[in-house]
Amino acid sequence: MTTQPSPFASSPIVLDHPLIRHKLTRLRKVETSTAGVRRLVRELSLLMCYEATRDLPMETVEITTPLETMQAEQLAGPDVCFISILRAGNGLLDGMLDLVPFAPVGHIGLYRDPETLEAVEYYLKLPSQISSRRCVVVDPMLATGHSAAAALTRLKEKGAKRLLFVCLLSTPEGIACLKEHHPDVPVITCAIDRGLDEHGYIRPGLGDAGDRLFGTK
Ligand code: URA
Repeated sequence: MTTQPSPFASSPIVLDHPLIRHKLTRLRKVETSTAGVRRLVRELSLLMCYEATRDLPMETVEITTPLETMQAEQLAGPDVCFISILRAGNGLLDGMLDLVPFAPVGHIGLYRDPETLEAVEYYLKLPSQISSRRCVVVDPMLATGHSAAAALTRLKEKGAKRLLFVCLLSTPEGIACLKEHHPDVPVITCAIDRGLDEHGYIRPGLGDAGDRLFGTK
């Protein structure tokens, strides 16, 4: 098995590509329909997945082409897994699974206790062998960073070691929070926005990602 040197040394990694910038602009627009949001998020998550899987370990196997036998590379197991932070994280899964259809998927659900302000877990289901897989944790919005940090803490408690956090939009506050609590977890994002407003929304942002993805209000 061969492991590439990690390309994720410096965090956060802001994906700088014309297609990503263009699709993000369309996604931000208030007039983009639910169908449009879904398609754009699917396309963006596919592009993010390409980056997030850059350092997956490979192995060499012997294969036979129609013409001869050769040594060829394939992904070494166990497979990368995706972990969605409910509910908006689910919107990023389709694109990720388009690219890695064999990846197992875990889900983590957290809510904020209004009194203690602590993140409380209400759902957790993870793939097997979590400690030896690359775990790509997905949530479209890294806002305060509190729920992302709580989710990463919980996944580490469950044994996850090779974690990566992938989001569409982030804020300096969210990135600082993850850097403080999980300096070992690289962050991949399409953009770092100006910051948070008094309601916890990312500005300029794209609104409530879950509502826009699922057509709710
Ligand atoms: N979650 C969202 O969906 N949108 C924001 O702007 C912040 C958090």
